[in-house]
Amino acid sequence: MTGRFITLEGGDGAGKTTQAEMLTAWLGEHGRTVVRTREPGGTALGERIREIVLHERGHVSPRAEALLYAADRAHHVQTVVRPAMARDEVVLQDRYTDSSVAYQGVARGLGAERIRSVSDWASEGLRPDLTVLLDLDVTVGRARVAAARGDTFDRLESEAEAFHETVRRAFLDMAEVEPDRFLVVDAAAPADHVQDVIRAAVAPLVGIDGA
Ligand code: TYD
Repeated sequence: MTGRFITLEGGDGAGKTTQAEMLTAWLGEHGRTVVRTREPGGTALGERIREIVLHERGHVSPRAEALLYAADRAHHVQTVVRPAMARDEVVLQDRYTDSSVAYQGVARGLGAERIRSVSDWASEGLRPDLTVLLDLDVTVGRARVAAARGDTFDRLESEAEAFHETVRRAFLDMAEVEPDRFLVVDAAAPADHVQDVIRAAVAPLVGIDGA
């Protein structure tokens, strides 16, 4: 069994963290070593970049923001993701290149193709084996976030509702273009059900029978 790279994408409040935790536990029960990680972040340098992109006060120019995500990705892929895959482990990651394409490329208007090519350069072309898109109505997602932790939003979360609608549409468009890589799951369904759908897609990828 070779290493696998699985990414989770979706808007705020779609339940990526909950689903990743459930999947990690299940993979562990089946004897797989899982590396749970995230972008931005996942390394010491990445956590510093995360501070800047999510919590910097005032304006950050869109191109600078895009390059900060790309810098984070370059370091993270080289120091965390590829080494884990070389050890035949399963990397389960919150957000990756598709987030850059949706947020910076489409919603910020920098261009989907250009942002994907910057990101591919940063990652030396590493593509996920599977991308789980947790799709959820924007209003529902934001209400979940607000309920979970009060009304404090980070820089991207506090963008207007239309921005997040654009992000959602961008993810769905990507999934349509690459149906073999994407699994689109209705994140409004109960968490257990969402998890069953994800496990069914992950099982053959990691050599687990009868999920
Ligand atoms: P995070 O706190 O990880 O939230 P979530 O639970 O929504 O994943 O926030 C990450 C934020 O960074 C999120 O608003 C999307 C944004 N982002 C980008 O804009 N571009 C990127 O390339 C990545 C990886 C994230």
